[in-house]
Amino acid sequence: MGSAFSTLKESLVREPKVWVVTGAAGFIGSHLVEHLLRLGQSVTGFDNFATGHRHNLEGVRKLVGEAAWSGFRLLEGDVRDLEACRAAVAGAHYVLHQAALGSVPRSIADPLTTHAVNVDGTLNVLTAARDAKVKRMVYASSSSIYGDEPNLPKREERVGKPLSPYALTKWINELYAAMFLRCYGLESVGLRYFNVFGARQDPEGQYAAVIPKWTAALIKGTPVRVNGKGEISRDFCYVENVVQANLLAATAPDAAGHAFNVALNDRIDLNQLYEHLRSRLLPHFPHLKDARPDYGPYREGDIMHSLADISLARKLLGYDPTHTVSQGLDAAMDWYRGDADVVRG
Ligand SMILES: NC(=O)c1ccc[n+]([C@@H]2O[C@H](COP(=O)([O-])OP(=O)(O)OC[C@H]3O[C@@H](n4cnc5c(N)ncnc54)[C@H](O)[C@@H]3O)[C@@H](O)[C@H]2O)c1
Repeated sequence: MGSAFSTLKESLVREPKVWVVTGAAGFIGSHLVEHLLRLGQSVTGFDNFATGHRHNLEGVRKLVGEAAWSGFRLLEGDVRDLEACRAAVAGAHYVLHQAALGSVPRSIADPLTTHAVNVDGTLNVLTAARDAKVKRMVYASSSSIYGDEPNLPKREERVGKPLSPYALTKWINELYAAMFLRCYGLESVGLRYFNVFGARQDPEGQYAAVIPKWTAALIKGTPVRVNGKGEISRDFCYVENVVQANLLAATAPDAAGHAFNVALNDRIDLNQLYEHLRSRLLPHFPHLKDARPDYGPYREGDIMHSLADISLARKLLGYDPTHTVSQGLDAAMDWYRGDADVVRG
């Protein structure tokens, strides 16, 4: 018998569906678009390009080819605009809501905008999904909602106090989604992503995630800043595992009303991560032979360790991650190197 994901993909190819991906021009959103188009689905991408890029969508177009790309339409708009959300979700079977302002430090610097986009925006998407009578909405939550909960691995039912405005917005999203099921019968599933990585994750800007940021710095030969002594650890998750979780969450019979951890149940510390990246880049960039990280202070709002228990997602979604961290980094390395040529000149 094949995996739940293979069975699902076969059924989607046989009977294509209409999907909305908010945040389609972003990192995770663009991978959802890519995989859905490869499966012959109709996809509306919704984005205001706040942090996403047109070149991500152009990259998807090249990868999937013109025939699959004809299933895509882009609606440029803001999740803070309810009417724009209604236009995006009209006629959809499933909504995969990824649009948000990510980053803990960004939310500490600007809690108002983070709240408006992440909370008001999600409330608009829930409202539009409810009124359009979509079958189900899947939305991006975050491991940050575990906050000060000290136990490892993180289990879905034990959540601590949020340590940042960003974490609070994601927690409020889960509360709203649960309330929409109770009050209006809207089926939704939250996915608590742990640190996701892969191609098209933005290496630029002060709020870039650690893997693309460090890779870019290593390639350029500029210092790689490690917060603390390198002992901070994370359950890094390759983006294809996240795509799998989204498609399963949209369709698994017993998933509605839950929020699931999406990761690997394996963690590495920042020193190990540094070595993973340096060793993969070294054959192409000899200047990294004796490169060492630059240790600095801890960052406000950060948690020390993170590790996901993924047994609930395994049980109710049939989630079965296909890529370890090493396999994910191997798969993404060409993009990191290519992107260095294209984006950083
Ligand atoms: N990448 C991770 O490790 C990670 C971890 C936990 C949770 N998440 C969540 O996953 C989702 C996707 O994250 P990502 O890493 O792909 O980030 P990203 O910044 O690459 O993508 C977010 C997309 O949302 C769009 N967007 C932002 N504000 C918008 C608005 N007001 N209206 C419409 N579109 C808007 C952006 O332009 C961008 O294309 C987010 O909800 C994020 O909070 C990501």
